[in-house]
Amino acid sequence: MMSKRLDEIEESATFRIAALANKFRRDGKDVISFSIGEPDFDTPSHIKNAAKKALDEGRTHYTPSAGIPELREGIARKFEENGLEVAPNDIIVTPGAKQAIFEAIHAVLNEGDEAVLFDPAWVSYDPCIKLAGAKPIWVPVSEEDFKPDDFAVTKKTKMIIVNSPCNPTGAVFDRSTLNLIADIAVDHDLLVLSDEVYEKILYAGKHISIGSFEGMHDRTITVNGFSKTYAMTGWRLGYATAPPDILDAMLKLQQHSTSCATSFVQYGGIAALEGPQECVAEMVNEFKARRDLIVDGLSSLGFKCKKPDGTFYVFANVSQFGGGAEVAERLLRDAYVAVTPGIAFGSSGKDHIRISYAISQARISEGLDRIESLMRNI
Ligand SMILES: Cc1ncc(COP(=O)(O)O)c(C=O)c1O
Repeated sequence: MMSKRLDEIEESATFRIAALANKFRRDGKDVISFSIGEPDFDTPSHIKNAAKKALDEGRTHYTPSAGIPELREGIARKFEENGLEVAPNDIIVTPGAKQAIFEAIHAVLNEGDEAVLFDPAWVSYDPCIKLAGAKPIWVPVSEEDFKPDDFAVTKKTKMIIVNSPCNPTGAVFDRSTLNLIADIAVDHDLLVLSDEVYEKILYAGKHISIGSFEGMHDRTITVNGFSKTYAMTGWRLGYATAPPDILDAMLKLQQHSTSCATSFVQYGGIAALEGPQECVAEMVNEFKARRDLIVDGLSSLGFKCKKPDGTFYVFANVSQFGGGAEVAERLLRDAYVAVTPGIAFGSSGKDHIRISYAISQARISEGLDRIESLMRNI
């Protein structure tokens, strides 16, 4: 009775740990969660107020499938900051960046095509590629800085997925790494899907969009969203720009699936982009203090990890204590500390755990104390 396409899709490797954490919570245990991939801050009030106003004004109906014109105009201005010359018509507003990624992959990949994924990678690219009937080709990144070196493509390769700043490693690709990828894309006539949702969660340097590189404008799909930058995960609002034929195909998918992003949420999106940006700087400053706390703490306990330049994740090598999945399970069972096993993000993460530091400094300190007590007894 079931669709064959889903046979290929594995259940998330994070499921086992999440189920165990929930069981402990139900048993009344105080589980510290370093596994959640979302900011713990409330959405800034001017954004909430804009959505409330839209609701009160009756903006409660379908919108154009590609999004309301004012939001697409705001996004076009935002993309200018990234060096992308795009018009409002080159933009699609989606219910979350995840939907934009799903649509982009389905818009271009056919059975038998290959898409390059840098290993480790965010959990949803691989299933999206497989659902489109295509094949993910995992290219391990350097263990040193989590950036790719020169890599081979085949005649079947159609797309390279780039995610900088990167979930799960926190790595930020510098200009030379992006140049390498752009050169390969141009030389082999490939598309690049650039997922930039962590663009603003950056602690050093400036964000660079690969779509702004020479020869890349007509072969790049740039995806971004509101979830991480403005603490808006539950609002489900994202967007993308793509070459016109790809955008049309994405729009077809959207028209026949979700129709449009939620109407009043799109007004919140305008306020987020056009309103004061101090709230973003405040959140990023707090994330930075948390990053320093967690990385210094883990390093002093013997975990191998460097301070990442972006996101709110640390990808720590725990091989001296066991495999990543084994350590994650022990941390949860014996210390009620939930982390994500690195293997969830690809085979090169088998010796790692991903720690999300989107929780308060007090909870991070408490988590470190618990990890320390556990490690003393190993
Ligand atoms: C790398 C990456 N891309 C995309 C998304 C999806 O973001 P959204 O909430 O906008 O769908 C996430 C969410 O965790 C992510 O980590």
